Amino acid sequence: MPFTANRQFKAEPRLIASAEGIHYTTVDGRKVIDGSAGLWCVNAGHGRREIADAVSRQLMALDYAPSFQIGHPIAFDFAEKLAAIAPAGLDRVFFTNSGSESVDTALKIALAYHRAAGQSTRTRLIGRERGYHGVGFGGMSVGGMVNNRRAFATHLPGVDHISHTHDLARNAFSRGLPAHGAELADDVERLVALHGSETIAAVIVEPVAGSTGVLLPPQGYLQRLRALCDKHGILLIFDEVITGFGRLGAPFAANYFGVTPDLITSAKGITNGTIPLGAVFASRKIHDALMVGPTSQIELFHGYTYSAHPVACAAGLATLEIYRKENLLTRGAELADYWQDAMHSLRGSPNVIDIRAIGLVAGIELSSRPDAAGSRAYDVMVDCFNRGLVIRVTGDTIAMSPPLIIERSQIDEIVTILGDALKRVA
Ligand SMILES: Cc1ncc(COP(=O)(O)O)c(C=O)c1O
Repeated sequence: MPFTANRQFKAEPRLIASAEGIHYTTVDGRKVIDGSAGLWCVNAGHGRREIADAVSRQLMALDYAPSFQIGHPIAFDFAEKLAAIAPAGLDRVFFTNSGSESVDTALKIALAYHRAAGQSTRTRLIGRERGYHGVGFGGMSVGGMVNNRRAFATHLPGVDHISHTHDLARNAFSRGLPAHGAELADDVERLVALHGSETIAAVIVEPVAGSTGVLLPPQGYLQRLRALCDKHGILLIFDEVITGFGRLGAPFAANYFGVTPDLITSAKGITNGTIPLGAVFASRKIHDALMVGPTSQIELFHGYTYSAHPVACAAGLATLEIYRKENLLTRGAELADYWQDAMHSLRGSPNVIDIRAIGLVAGIELSSRPDAAGSRAYDVMVDCFNRGLVIRVTGDTIAMSPPLIIERSQIDEIVTILGDALKRVA
């Protein structure tokens, strides 16, 4: 099983049989709240009939067609609708099948762009400590979570990392964005001084780091990162695999923070988690730079058998329609204060050393047990599951990201179950 303690799980499995709205039903018939929207992806809630119908229709109309040298209209239709909600200027779309593939695609596009623009010395890729960019060799290499890296000695060469922004001493229990740490963006200058800007292709960051424990960017940090990338001719990639499609209360984090990167990676919420699909959004500048040479020539030697899979596109189109009708891409903004208050009400619960919340996502960090990092949060997760709530844990941080259709009363339920679990596990 992926990212699972296999032997522990098999000794004591947690199995889901069905799902509807914000609830799962376990194989033994218990209803549990999905406090993490699957893996941050089921933004419109489970069991959406419109998506199921669109998928089933598409399977009979066109179940598959390649996207190499042939196309199908639904892919272009979906790309256009995505471009319409993407941050201004990022209206070129490349389809993948997952977040990891989106990341590797964006990194490759960045390299290809510089080469096409006559800057082929720009090959270095910069990630950030504590970043998560999926599990491909590219994403793993620019990622910064030690357990995802240490067993796999072979990383991409020419990768470096800026420092992370997590600073409990200065920012614990911040409401809104942390006040301290914008200057950490200046770490880009350190790497420019070390390697030379003419060797650096791109900097990739999650605007809000998710899998490493919901780390919010310090006030002004992303703006500073953008300015430094501009100054040095470096492309800025936002990995929005989690933050894309409404998680922060805006369509993308780029909208929320008012900072436009050169490339955005996405997946997850793009199809409400129903059918695997990812998309990379690129600026016209990047796209157009690649559209050179003889027109008979393939411009980007990259793609997947299932790029723009028609069934996934159908699921995506139906998902976008639900998001539009139910205003889900901005609903998080309406609930953000309520959510933030609810999460911060857990301050003072045993072992809670920080709470971070933004949009409809939150991280609740617990102190680790001596010599047993992660075990406390794991116990909280099991306790919650047994009492009606699915949460996601990473290390000793509890990461919450409910479906965007959640109601206030359901947020209260989450807080009650979680608060009780924190007391019991203490
Ligand atoms: C920011 C980020 N990038 C990339 C990925 C990888 O996505 P996938 O698991 O679909 O490959 C994830 C998954 O959680 C993610 O959070």
